[in-house]
Amino acid sequence: MNLPYRPRRLRRGETLRRMVRETTLTTDDLILPLFVTYGKGVNKPIKSMPGHSQLSVDYIKKEAKEIRSLGIPAVILFGIPEHKDETGSSAFDPGGPVQEAIKAVKDKTPELLVITDVCMCEYTSHGHCGIIKNKDVDNDATLELLSREALSHAESGADIVAPSDMMDGRVAAIRDILDDNGFTNIPIMSYAAKYASAFYGPFREAAESTPQFGDRRSYQMDPGNTDEALREVALDIEEGADIVMVKPALPYLDIITRIKTEFKFPVAAYNVSGEFSMIKAAAEKGWLDGDRAMMESLMSIKRSGADMILTYFAKEAARLLHKQR
Ligand code: PBG
Repeated sequence: MNLPYRPRRLRRGETLRRMVRETTLTTDDLILPLFVTYGKGVNKPIKSMPGHSQLSVDYIKKEAKEIRSLGIPAVILFGIPEHKDETGSSAFDPGGPVQEAIKAVKDKTPELLVITDVCMCEYTSHGHCGIIKNKDVDNDATLELLSREALSHAESGADIVAPSDMMDGRVAAIRDILDDNGFTNIPIMSYAAKYASAFYGPFREAAESTPQFGDRRSYQMDPGNTDEALREVALDIEEGADIVMVKPALPYLDIITRIKTEFKFPVAAYNVSGEFSMIKAAAEKGWLDGDRAMMESLMSIKRSGADMILTYFAKEAARLLHKQR
């Protein structure tokens, strides 16, 4: 049969497919989350996230070298402090695990960018992302704590701060304190559209940050909303966000696309713990090919419009990408 256009012509062989591929994933797209704990010589595997551990600073240093050698440009740090209290005061302890890890990484591997997660939930005894008043997180009182935490990260040498708490006005508060203290060049990556999601389950084991009562639905977004995501992003950009994030990634690809199209700002997508663990669990059972599912997921996040992807797959994906070249 004579057909003017046969789409299959351009699918013949990997070289041709490579030439017409519209989206390519590179190691430059990847950011690896790391969990830093207190003490020395600690490498405590996280059961629900195979291949990931809580690491003390000495291990973080080694890990950073490997990450850099794989060509991954950045890490994002989460802290597990020795002490938790009602107000999460160890979040801005200059000797805290995150602060010490920043110094260690910047000292040993200065070209590896260090992003820090700015939030209270890992530091509060109740596990919520701010100060509790009348059984709810008090927005405005929490802003001061978040700003102090962000400043403490900047003072320790963080390259980018990333508030993930979802309080109103936090980007402005953080921009203010950074600028007042001479950190005008430190970018803010805001978790702008962060949904109240079941896919954070394994992370809460990893970061020991499960809320002790209630849930996060009074501050994280409702999964049914799209327009609201645009309002959140507009607000954060107005307040000074340099990079805006959508989280989780795979169940919210439409949000990534809409934000990229409407704002033309750098968009980060967080391929969260549950998205990682689902693939790992299914692969372990032999129900799917883990490597292929990983690469397809990351590719689809990039294709949807993300400029960078925070992912627990970063090292595995980087290794595969190097092999393919
Ligand atoms: C802290 C925070 C969470 C994640 C990143 N920062 C957990 C939460 O909001 O409950 C989740 C990351 C993941 O699941 O990989 N607020």
